[in-house]
Amino acid sequence: MSAPADIPDLPAQRGNEFRDLWAGAVGAGRVGTEVRLAGWVNRRRDHGGLVFIDLRDRTGVVQLVFDPDDSGAAFALGHELRSEDVISVRGTVVERSADTVNPEIATGAWEVRVAAAARLAAAATPPFQIEGRGRNETGEEARLRYRYLDLRREPMREAIELRARIVRAMREQLDGEGFIEIETPVLTRSTPEGARDFLVPSRLQQGSFYALPQSPQLFKQLLMVAGFERYYQIARCFRDEDLRADRQPDFTQLDLEMSFVDEEDVIEANERLLRHVLAVAGIEVELPIPRIAHADALARYGTDRPDVRFGMELRDLGGALAETGFRVFRAAIDGDGVVKGINAGRRELPRSELDGLIAEAQELGAKGLVWAFREGDGWRSPTAKFLSDVELAGVNAELGAEEGDLLLIVADSAAVANRVLGTLRTRLAGRWGEIPPGSHGFCWIVDWPLLEWDEAEGGWAPLHHPFTAFAGELDEGDPAAARARAYDIVWNGSEIGGGSIRIGDPEAQERVLALLGIDAAEAEARFGFLLEALRYGAPPHGGIAYGLDRICALASGSDSIRDVIAFPKTASGGDPLTGAPAPVDERQLRELGISARAAKPR
Ligand code: AMO
Ligand code: AMP
Repeated sequence: MSAPADIPDLPAQRGNEFRDLWAGAVGAGRVGTEVRLAGWVNRRRDHGGLVFIDLRDRTGVVQLVFDPDDSGAAFALGHELRSEDVISVRGTVVERSADTVNPEIATGAWEVRVAAAARLAAAATPPFQIEGRGRNETGEEARLRYRYLDLRREPMREAIELRARIVRAMREQLDGEGFIEIETPVLTRSTPEGARDFLVPSRLQQGSFYALPQSPQLFKQLLMVAGFERYYQIARCFRDEDLRADRQPDFTQLDLEMSFVDEEDVIEANERLLRHVLAVAGIEVELPIPRIAHADALARYGTDRPDVRFGMELRDLGGALAETGFRVFRAAIDGDGVVKGINAGRRELPRSELDGLIAEAQELGAKGLVWAFREGDGWRSPTAKFLSDVELAGVNAELGAEEGDLLLIVADSAAVANRVLGTLRTRLAGRWGEIPPGSHGFCWIVDWPLLEWDEAEGGWAPLHHPFTAFAGELDEGDPAAARARAYDIVWNGSEIGGGSIRIGDPEAQERVLALLGIDAAEAEARFGFLLEALRYGAPPHGGIAYGLDRICALASGSDSIRDVIAFPKTASGGDPLTGAPAPVDERQLRELGISARAAKPR
């Protein structure tokens, strides 16, 4: 008799007598046989004459019955056991009577009558409840401080196991398509992905520092020059940036690179990969994944990572309002701005909630928000009186408004209008249940600009990274017009991966670096090794990297990538379990030839 499909057989253990069966594998085929089980006390119920204990191991929970008629010694121990004690038992599997079957657990139709039991380790009282599937209301700080206990909870264990299955499926698919897994260094030089580096001081070359890689970007390009043709790696990456629910200072990429390919080849290989990988999470990816040009994504969704599971698209109302005399719209149209709107569907909202939407829009940076309900050919809205019948009808038509639909309109620069309406669009769809439960929406964002103007730095910056190939000719006189051979993959409004075809020609690479304000000398100093490698015969190459943590979070339905990382950091970058980051000895600093200017009090 083998275990149910997803529970692996327990290998025969010769050296000990702890167990010969997983708890989750107790089932019909075992009735009447003697089994040995080991695990943690999930829950204990003392019914005076009988003690019931739910025994938990990695595979599930099974009920143990301690009955003095079966074994007085085991019964006595059963009385003493506490939650989370570690035990090993020997007993007989029996069927439960129909009225005692527990439909909540997979093994609920059976129980084990204990003949012998041993406590292998006693547990202190846990700081929070471990059994049950309920949301852990304990603060995250405490969960991370006692992460080994938090990880015992079923939803956490499932998420970590799903992550392992996802990684296995990635390897399966890529190995099957001739990719070679290669590791690249963690102590290296700065890699320009746009975040701040983590630095590691060198003891042997005092005053010099390694940088932890923000990605293996340069090494994977060198591997293509080296002739490996198809590479992948489950790679740890390090970025010192402000943290959010979908960002960690150290995170994991599935990183890959291919030679003798164009965009089409990379995208197709990756569609096969996504389909295979997400199948393990029960998610069917329909191929081909739709592609949206970067400019269209901004125009229609207000963002370069659109959630395509629902409509409510942004529309430009400039045409319908071209002649308007309404001051707010006029100013935007005459200035460099836009008037854009969304149709939020048929709603009935009290005034307070509409005021709330205005406040929300203002928090997002809008100067205001026009709301209107379509009523007959016109609007019910405080703004209706400022617009002509023709303008109201034109806006209604542009937004596809039907009777009672709520329209939300922002006049501002395109950037602000897109950000505000794009954010409201996803928030309201979530709030008002417009996203079909269990649905998944994927899209590629393609046809990116190569560069964007960085106000803060006063220069051109790459939208991806400086090694991204440009499409067609590069006109130094018009950097804004340069197009990138780049693609991002977006899942339910979250950027899960991005990549590009790379620059293979050293002269072209130098021209792009020059546009970024990196002159030949600086280029030589920072990326000389790459420029040199490109001179030794670089094949056309391109690739992509995925945020593995983000993929796992989405696949397991978690809001935060912290829930799919065994030992994550808090929002302030700390690890409450180990206490990292921590001050170091004066002696360690001296060995490294550095001194800490100010130690923050802890
Ligand atoms: P990029 O910088 O877009 O591309 O990173 C690829 C993917 O990694 C994920 N990601 C993160 N996940 C968690 N925490 C973070 N701090 C974090 N930062 C990024 C995102 C992102 O899409 N070398 C290029 C790839 C290439 O061109 O092949 C790169 O690193 O899901
Ligand atoms: P005001 O005259 O500034 O009070 O604005 C008149 C109406 O237009 C109010 O309902 C504002 O919320 C709205 N409004 C003001 N500025 C904007 C804007 N930039 N975009 C959309 N609506 C706006």
